[in-house]
Amino acid sequence: MENKVFQQMASRYDTEDRIELAKVIANEVKQELQKNATKSLIDYGSGTGLVSLELSDLVNSILLVDSSKQMLDVAEAKISRRGIRNAKVLYSDFTQETPQMKADIVLMSLVLLHIPDTEKILQQLFSILNESGELIIVDFDKNDQIDHPRVHNGFSHEGLKDILSKVGFDSIEIKTFYHGEGIFMKQDASMFISRSIK
Ligand SMILES: C[S@@+](CC[C@H](N)C(=O)[O-])C[C@H]1O[C@@H](n2cnc3c(N)ncnc32)[C@H](O)[C@@H]1O
Repeated sequence: MENKVFQQMASRYDTEDRIELAKVIANEVKQELQKNATKSLIDYGSGTGLVSLELSDLVNSILLVDSSKQMLDVAEAKISRRGIRNAKVLYSDFTQETPQMKADIVLMSLVLLHIPDTEKILQQLFSILNESGELIIVDFDKNDQIDHPRVHNGFSHEGLKDILSKVGFDSIEIKTFYHGEGIFMKQDASMFISRSIK
């Protein structure tokens, strides 16, 4: 989806439905994040921080990265209002510039579907992970009800696994964890979580 769409919707992004869905995602990601108190996490395409700001107690630091300044402004206001001391924001688009940073964990929640070149962004995320670092992706399963010129209509587990492994990831696990009504462009859909190791 066009970046300017997210800039325009930033101040009204946190609807009840999105907050509910983010809770479901954060609870699932929490189960992947046991015993990571010393680790750094990058939330790529963080939006307003609905998911990763629920995870700040589980990791050492969180960097919320987004290509929409307006979404990050909302996230930054939450960080300061809630007194979260280990979270920062970074305005960047790794499909346009090569990131100069490293992290132990990269999380991508409902972002991959908005990025046209899946392999390129996964390569960039691979490059910023420390050795044995972990990429966690949450996104929609492939859904034939969706047809939009700028949004992937979800991902098949096999197709995504192939790309992740081509990029260099190991130990790739993908599972569907949630089915919901009207959650993907107003269509019923299911979400998967994937975990891959560098
Ligand atoms: C549907 S929102 C998801 C926000 C958050 N991760 C969540 O689960 O609530 C997608 C976010 O991805 C960001 N985004 C889209 N393309 C991006 C890119 N190429 N680089 C960084 N962020 C991107 C958008 O600005 C938006 O904030």
